[in-house]
Amino acid sequence: SLSSIILVSNEFTKKFINYFFINLIMAKDKPSMNVVFVGHVDAGKSTCVGRMMFDGGAVTEQEMKQLREEAEKHGKAGFEFAYVMDNIKEERERGVTIDLSYKKLLTDKYEITIIDAPGHRDFVKNMITGASQADAAFLTIAAPSGVQPQTTEHLWLLRTMGVKNLAISVNKMDAADYSEEKFNKVKEDVGKLLSQVGINPETTQFIPCSGLMGDNIVAKSTNMDWYKGPTIREQIDKFPAPESPTNLPMRMPVQDVYDITGIGTVPVGKIETGIMKIGMKVVVLPGRTGEGIAGELKTIEAHHETHAEAPAGMNVGVNIRGVGKKDIARGDVICEAANPVPIVEEFIGQIAVINHPTVLAKGYTPVFHIHTAQVPCQITELIAQIDPKSGQVIKENPDFLKNGDVAKVRIKPQGNLALEAQGDNPYMARFAIRDAGATVAAGMCVEITKKK
Ligand code: GTP
Ligand code: MG
Repeated sequence: SLSSIILVSNEFTKKFINYFFINLIMAKDKPSMNVVFVGHVDAGKSTCVGRMMFDGGAVTEQEMKQLREEAEKHGKAGFEFAYVMDNIKEERERGVTIDLSYKKLLTDKYEITIIDAPGHRDFVKNMITGASQADAAFLTIAAPSGVQPQTTEHLWLLRTMGVKNLAISVNKMDAADYSEEKFNKVKEDVGKLLSQVGINPETTQFIPCSGLMGDNIVAKSTNMDWYKGPTIREQIDKFPAPESPTNLPMRMPVQDVYDITGIGTVPVGKIETGIMKIGMKVVVLPGRTGEGIAGELKTIEAHHETHAEAPAGMNVGVNIRGVGKKDIARGDVICEAANPVPIVEEFIGQIAVINHPTVLAKGYTPVFHIHTAQVPCQITELIAQIDPKSGQVIKENPDFLKNGDVAKVRIKPQGNLALEAQGDNPYMARFAIRDAGATVAAGMCVEITKKK
C-alpha cells in the first residue's frame, strides 16, 4: 500500500493523502497494548524488562557485554540488564530509573509497548504518566524486602489512572533461596493490599521470578518446580485485549475533519464506545454553538473499505447527512441522538498532580485535554486531599496541592465541553491537565453538573 500512497501523491491534494495515510496506519494486524512495570525503587523492574529484551533476542550478547562493562566501570555491577532501559547518564551512574523508557515487543497476540517506570518517590510524577498510558501493569516486588511504601502508592495510582489488568511479579527469588514459603508470604501481604483497593487477589496472577538470573522472565525456571503458572512474557499474552466497550452509548470524538472531493465533509477519529451504524441518527456535540448539530450517518469507512457498522475501538472516517465542514471540528463528539453526551456546566475530578512548577491553588486555569478536546477550565474549589496509600481523605479544603498529591477538585470549563463521569462512561472521563507545554496533572471526572 505504500506504493499506492506514492502514486496517489502525484495526483491528489495533501488533504487527500493525509486521509489515506490515516487509513494506512489504522490497518494493523495485531491489537496494540501498553504494559507498564511499576513498584518500589530497586525492586528490579528495569532488570526484568532488560532481561526480557535480552532473552527475546532484542539485545545481542555483544551489546550486553558492553553494558556489563559500563556497569562495572560505574561500580554498578549487576545493573547491566537495567541499563537496557536506563539510558540517561545520571540513571546509569546512580543506578536508578528517573524517566519513563519504552520498548516495543511483538508477542503472539499483541503489538506491545513496554513502559518501564521509575520507583523512586521523587519521580512518582513520571510513574503516573506511565500509568495513564497503560492498559495493563506488572507490580514488581522484591521477594527479600516484600511490601514497601511505593508498592502501595503505585497500586493506588494504577487504580486512579484506571489500569484494570494487573499481575504481580515477585522478583529476586534467587536472593530468597527460590523459596515457596517466602513467595507465599509476599503473596499473602500483597493480597491484603489488593483487597483494599478492590482487586480480587484470587484472580490475580503472582509470578515468582529473577530478572538477574533469568528465572520465569522468558524461560521457565528450573529452580522453582513448585510454580506451575506463566512466565512474565507468557503473562503478557494472558492479559485480555484492551476491551471494546460496545455496550455503552456511541461516542466518536473527532480527531480531524477532511473535505474530500466527491465525498464531502469527512470527520475522522476513533469510536470510543458503542456501535456506529449507517442510517443512525446522530448529533455532533458541542458543535459551534454548544447546542449540537443533528444529522444522519451516510457512510462509514475504515481500512479503505466501507462498513455498514463499526464497533468501539475502530478508527473511522464518516460522512453525515446534514453536517458540513463549518459545523464540525476537532474536539466535537459524534454521538447517537437517542443518547447524547452531556455538555457540562461544572464537574468534580479526582486528580493526581504530576508536574507543577510551584503549587496548584484555587483559581488556576490550565488547559484540559479531554478525549480530542482542549478546553481551558478553572479549578474553582479544592475539595479534599486524598492519601494515595489508603484512598482516605487526609485534608478537607486544602489551601494548595503540590507534586505527588492526589485530590478531589471542582472544575469549571471556560467553554462548551462534552464530558462524562467515570461511572457512566470511563472512556469519556479521563483527562490530562497541561500548562506551558508540560502535563501538570492527570485525572478522571467523577461527577458532572449538566448545562441546562
Ligand atoms: P528503579 O527503576 O530505580 O525504581 O529500580 P528498578 O526497580 O528498575 O530496579 P533495577 O532493575 O534498577 O535493579 C536494582 C538492583 O536490584 C540492581 O542492583 C539489580 O542488579 C538488582 N536486581 C534486580 N533484579 C534482581 C534479581 O532478580 N535478583 C537479584 N539478586 N538482584 C536483582
Ligand atoms: Mg528501573
